[in-house]
Amino acid sequence: MQDLDQFSPVFMKVLGIETSCDETGIAVYDSASGSIWQRLYSQIEKHREYGGVVPELASRDHVVKAAPMLEEILAEIGSIDDIDAIAYTRGPGLIGALMVGANLARGLAWALDRPVLGVHHMEGHLLAPMLADEKPELPFVALLVSGGHTLLVDVRTLGDYRILGETLDDAVGEAFDKTAKLLGLPYPGGPELAQLADSVSQSRFDFPRPMTTRPGLEFSFSGLKTAALNIVRKHQPLDDALRAEIAHAFQRAVVDTLKIKCRRALTETGYRNLVIAGGVGANRHLREALGKMTRAHNARLYFPALEYCTDNGAMIAYAGALRLLQGQQDIEVSDVLPRWSLESLSVI
Ligand code: KG4
Ligand code: ZN
Repeated sequence: MQDLDQFSPVFMKVLGIETSCDETGIAVYDSASGSIWQRLYSQIEKHREYGGVVPELASRDHVVKAAPMLEEILAEIGSIDDIDAIAYTRGPGLIGALMVGANLARGLAWALDRPVLGVHHMEGHLLAPMLADEKPELPFVALLVSGGHTLLVDVRTLGDYRILGETLDDAVGEAFDKTAKLLGLPYPGGPELAQLADSVSQSRFDFPRPMTTRPGLEFSFSGLKTAALNIVRKHQPLDDALRAEIAHAFQRAVVDTLKIKCRRALTETGYRNLVIAGGVGANRHLREALGKMTRAHNARLYFPALEYCTDNGAMIAYAGALRLLQGQQDIEVSDVLPRWSLESLSVI
């Protein structure tokens, strides 16, 4: 690792390594041109038969896939010497999976004598919309919705994050996946449930909008899963039309709830910009509903390209590049952080 004083951040091609869960993401972001080279490998097939991510299998698969993916990208950009700095996901995530990416990053940094930096996975998601041509204006409210997180964040400036509200139980993606499982859809069922929901235009069911009638920006999604379970039990055997109507009612309730809370967050902060990020940000119905709400609120909505919604290496390379360009880097070998508060980060 380089000495901080010798490091003059002016370049640069940053390698990003994402291994926090079940996707191996390797990317290079060129901060001079904005170009991105990336490879993404999803382990979903490996975990499907278990109905969820098996941590030990995830770590092993990252070990097998990460280096060959890196070699493919290096063949495209030229050589390994073209890498100026390395960013990896330090947390939050599965400890074994995180360690695979961290060790690869540190090994490369040591061998190439390049700076290396551990990046917060959720900061990666949060900044992914900035990879688009039209970058969100600061300050903004960010809605981070993934398989593990549901957060509303006040982003005053980059790196200065205040959590306005989060889920008290299941994350939105988790609620999608669990409800999809009840409907007999394969893991991870979020996208399949969304597709099923969109196959009908109405539903005889109406699910609650949890925690919307009282003030505050906290969420709770486990009740929706229970509501779906009760309907499923009452209507055995389920036919296709009924499954689609349950999916439709569930999705509408989730999207409505997120919309109500986002509108409240914009009102409370007085901000005029809303950013959605994370895997559930790929949901078409959610994008449309938030688009409509922000227009009515005289605000603007930003979201990442679909390929940067779910876990990927580009968002880690980008968030890492912003910090590395400020001269930040790991000055000693640091532990990975399975739990890590977004609020503890420093301003970029
Ligand atoms: O951000 P992500 O790739 O991984 C985590 O960090 O969790 O998010 C994955 C989550 C899964 O729960 C998946 O079912 C959900 O995002 N998801 C969706 C859609 N696409 C992905 N949920 C609803 N509708 C979608 N179109
Ligand atoms: Zn994620």
